[in-house]
Amino acid sequence: MRKKFGKTDLMTSPIVYGCMGGAGAFGAQEEKDSIEALRGAFDAGLNFFDTAEAYGAGYSEQLLAKALGDRRKDIVISSKVNKEHLGASDIMEACERSLKNLKTDYIDIYLLHWPNREVPLAESMEAVKKLQDQGKIRYYGVSNFGKLDLPEALELGDVVTDQLPYHLFHRAIEFDVQPVCEEKNIPIMCYSSLMQGLLAGKYRSLADFPVNRARTTLFDHKKWGECVHTKDGAEEAGQKALDEIWKITEESGYAMEELAVGWLKSRRAVGGVIVGTRNAEQSRGLKKLMDVDLDSSILDALTRATDEVKNRLGSDIDMWGKGRTR
Ligand SMILES: NC(=O)c1ccc[n+]([C@@H]2O[C@H](COP(=O)([O-])OP(=O)(O)OC[C@H]3O[C@@H](n4cnc5c(N)ncnc54)[C@H](OP(=O)(O)O)[C@@H]3O)[C@@H](O)[C@H]2O)c1
Repeated sequence: MRKKFGKTDLMTSPIVYGCMGGAGAFGAQEEKDSIEALRGAFDAGLNFFDTAEAYGAGYSEQLLAKALGDRRKDIVISSKVNKEHLGASDIMEACERSLKNLKTDYIDIYLLHWPNREVPLAESMEAVKKLQDQGKIRYYGVSNFGKLDLPEALELGDVVTDQLPYHLFHRAIEFDVQPVCEEKNIPIMCYSSLMQGLLAGKYRSLADFPVNRARTTLFDHKKWGECVHTKDGAEEAGQKALDEIWKITEESGYAMEELAVGWLKSRRAVGGVIVGTRNAEQSRGLKKLMDVDLDSSILDALTRATDEVKNRLGSDIDMWGKGRTR
């Protein structure tokens, strides 16, 4: 199951494998499990793998090479340069490090991980164009670029994607970024599609969510110690939405992750739904996510279930409320 990815000539699976958790982002992680999870994703039919120099300071890229290096020609790799490395020479050096970590001589799509207003965007864009001319990257794109940053990037270069937080509990991009992506044929790579597990059918209540994950603007900073934002959240609306999603899960017979991913697959301008797994068993579940195709009554029910959360949280696309996007 492959589709042409926007303006590129890459043929990619609708589900993109997210490599961040394998590098320990969600707690202790055995390397053996990460490798099996990566190979399991490939066996489930995924050919698109998303990593970043930031994930374990290069370790995630190394893991990907270790797990799938001999399948390099069969996979599409996106990796990202840190916002601290957006100066021209820093980008060139970061890309060399990533190539070395990935044990490859090209990255398919190279993304600016977050905007950095201290470095002129034109300088970063010139650097990625140079990398493209040198054949070290095939395409470039951006991540976490909002309604002001994305059009600026599109003016400066041939950006092929914007990787953005998008899931049932964070629909901020719908206000003003998704329309730009749709108009300009920029496929969105959605991240945190399962809201780091909240949409994987493991939690009946928001109160049960692990404290190190309950950091997004959905959660009230006064109740949760690890939030970096200072917002009141939308937990009452969030719990109502979660209850409703559980109801739809039980009535439809779909697993909750199928609903979460099926809904994203149907949304405008979405070109890839990123999902992260921690072990082989979770990766076996990716096959059904590749296939899921929800009917319109379920899609509408999921949209209605989360409209209030969407409207309460508004258009700030930074899921953690750190004010990094615009
Ligand atoms: N561009 C950016 O700034 C950015 C930011 C964040 C993420 N990302 C990308 O998006 C990827 C995924 O996002 P995310 O890591 O936030 O998380 P996610 O995909 O929303 O959730 C991952 C979690 O879902 C749970 N899960 C997955 N499959 C499951 C299954 N079959 N059964 C039960 N639970 C399951 C696991 O939870 P447990 O850990 O509890 O097992 C897993 O750790 C990252 O790896 C990265 O590639 C990009």
